[in-house]
Amino acid sequence: STPPVTVTVTGAAGQIGYALLFRIASGQLLGPDTPVKLNLLEIPQAVKAAEGTAMELADGAFPLLAGVDIFDDATKAFDGANVALLVGARPRTKGMERGDLLEANGGIFAPQGKAINEGAADDIKVLVVGNPANTNALIAKSAAPDVPAERFTAMTRLDHNRALSQLSAKLSVPVSEITKMTIWGNHSATQYPDLYHTEVGGKIAAEQVEESWLRDTFIPTVAKRGAAIIEARGASSAASAASAAIDHVYTWVNGTADGDWTSMAVPSDGSYGVAEGIISSFPVTTANGAYEIVQGLEINDFSRERIDASVAELVEERDAVKALGLL
Ligand code: NAI
Repeated sequence: STPPVTVTVTGAAGQIGYALLFRIASGQLLGPDTPVKLNLLEIPQAVKAAEGTAMELADGAFPLLAGVDIFDDATKAFDGANVALLVGARPRTKGMERGDLLEANGGIFAPQGKAINEGAADDIKVLVVGNPANTNALIAKSAAPDVPAERFTAMTRLDHNRALSQLSAKLSVPVSEITKMTIWGNHSATQYPDLYHTEVGGKIAAEQVEESWLRDTFIPTVAKRGAAIIEARGASSAASAASAAIDHVYTWVNGTADGDWTSMAVPSDGSYGVAEGIISSFPVTTANGAYEIVQGLEINDFSRERIDASVAELVEERDAVKALGLL
């Protein structure tokens, strides 16, 4: 039988963790033929809550779940990990400056990157969900010089899925008829959901909607959806974020369909003028457990301006963490 794949999840006792772990245990992260072993990492105060979740995982009697271990030590939690889902992060609290936020997260993601460097399996794939996700992924990558840089990714799949959903509702077509959606840049309000390459029924989406809708409704609705969810639920997106994390890793491992792509924040190779080394969202295709940035897309002036603005924000974040000695 197939040996289990070790999946380490940080922030396991949080709200995303609660939605994510059961879907991993049921086989939706890697597919129905792959048993999983879960390593849960939490801070000491939340270990007891993680134990409660582990009890519920046991009660799920998942045939693919080969075991659950709980840690408050990153070195142990990432030992032998094949997939790392870095969900736990330090949220911004009242009065906190951006520099404080980046520094607090550096204190989490640098040691976790180091632990991955020391003990993870050779095929380790890392997805950072915890915000600021792109820059946290950059910090972890910098702390893991022996791991190929391209294994460090951050999540913009929730933004991608939100964009699919908004367009599907606008055009009254199922999401399955939409291909080549792209989110560019940072997982933040500056992100750019691009409809100029998206296809619906083989035709470019931007040509099937009013320009005013694209500019004044679609882009801000996607970019501010997180805030709208908080306003409605009284809590931030959790199940949809977990679902997007499942999608991100599943697609990375199992491949994109022919004629389609997805959005992932990955280390830039300089494509599309995006500063090399920063972790920025691109259109990517995946096959055989690897991804490639889609090349050769024409970028119009409208898109250029928005991509540049989001990349400029990521460069600022990079410079700020560099100044803090985190890179
Ligand atoms: P939460 O506050 O419910 O849970 C976070 C958990 O992380 C807590 O249990 C906490 O104890 C744990 N944690 C904190 N520091 C840790 C450390 N050093 N090691 C291990 N665990 C640690 O938060 P929630 O709702 O689960 O969200 C988690 C993160 O995901 C947040 O940063 C949030 O902003 C981000 N997020 C990102 C999205 C994206 O699209 N990239 C979408 C939605 C949320």
